Amino acid sequence: MSKDRIYIFDTTLRDGEQVPGCQLNTEEKVTVAKMLEELGVDVIEAGFPVSSPGDFNSVQEICKAVTEPIICGLTRAKVVDIDCAAQALHFAKRKRIHTGIGASDIHIEYKLKTTREKVLEQAVAAVKYARRFVDDVEFYAEDAGRADQEFLARMVEAVIKAGATVVNIPDTTGYNLPQMFGDKIKYLVNNVPNIDQAIISVHCHNDLGLATANSIAGLMSGARQVEVTINGIGERAGNTALEEVVMIAKSHPHLNLETNIDTTKLFPLSQLVSDMMGMPVQPNKAIVGSNAFAHSSGIHQDGVIKHRENYEIIDPADVGVPESTIVLTARSGRAALRHRLQNLGYPFDKGDMEVIYIRFLELADQKKQVDDQDLHELVNSAESLV
Ligand code: KIV
Ligand code: ZN
Repeated sequence: MSKDRIYIFDTTLRDGEQVPGCQLNTEEKVTVAKMLEELGVDVIEAGFPVSSPGDFNSVQEICKAVTEPIICGLTRAKVVDIDCAAQALHFAKRKRIHTGIGASDIHIEYKLKTTREKVLEQAVAAVKYARRFVDDVEFYAEDAGRADQEFLARMVEAVIKAGATVVNIPDTTGYNLPQMFGDKIKYLVNNVPNIDQAIISVHCHNDLGLATANSIAGLMSGARQVEVTINGIGERAGNTALEEVVMIAKSHPHLNLETNIDTTKLFPLSQLVSDMMGMPVQPNKAIVGSNAFAHSSGIHQDGVIKHRENYEIIDPADVGVPESTIVLTARSGRAALRHRLQNLGYPFDKGDMEVIYIRFLELADQKKQVDDQDLHELVNSAESLV
């Protein structure tokens, strides 16, 4: 069966960068954009040009510096925003305007203070207006995750008819469960008559920790674009993490989801974004956390030393992590200690291990981790006892 190509739409520089404290200057954004290009993303959402002169300038500079991916600018469904985005995208080789409006009754009543019919009119008008500037227009139905199914289907049909090439179904508040979100996409696939004329995109937030699961459910139901950020950074609890979606697709070939991503660049880019934004990656973060390939319990260490795949489903080299690590703590066993001592040039065999292992445990009970310097000292003092 042929693989289904999925498009990676990276919004690190828009949804990610809008997090307080994560702002980047133009030069930094261009650096990240170039690395996203090398990573192989299909679309870079470079910013929200009308939001500030600085963001406008960054979008413009990214358009000049990056040639391979589509460069996208966000707008509200307003003429002033669309005019501004069209101008900011002027130098892009491949450009897209991303416009949209609220789709849920909560947004329509309490945020937009209008009616469903008026929202439909504004959505259609915005798409038609954006099409005057670019051939590629993505429409987002904000808060689609909590929108009425039938109304959402009407909206999607109307904007495709107006010229939208991509329809983005965001779970803006991260409310959905994977099955619910997958069903939402399936409903659109089955009930929007012109759905074959556009690509369905999924854009999930992580308020319940389900952003990645929901995105995968959307892709399994027929979406072909997924909106993600490096390290999952984004509003509140964040967005879907690019590295997670890509490695799920790679680790489960039966899903038939293929990306253009060079996975060996994932870890270096994660580090760069974390350093530039001053946003540490949690140690237990999937794929790119400092503990993602670290083994600390004796049973696991013994298993990994015997055969890496006993406890690892991903080869660290595949995501640009130099190697798995065996962390020596009071939970480590003799096998891990011996392995590490051998790497340091102390060829202990099993029989010689007992004295040193007892002393190691004494030290490990006092310290969180035993490092190489501790091991040298331990060997020297143990030798003086033998
Ligand atoms: O979460 C959201 O709904 C968004 C849209 C602007 C696409 O970020
Ligand atoms: Zn968002």
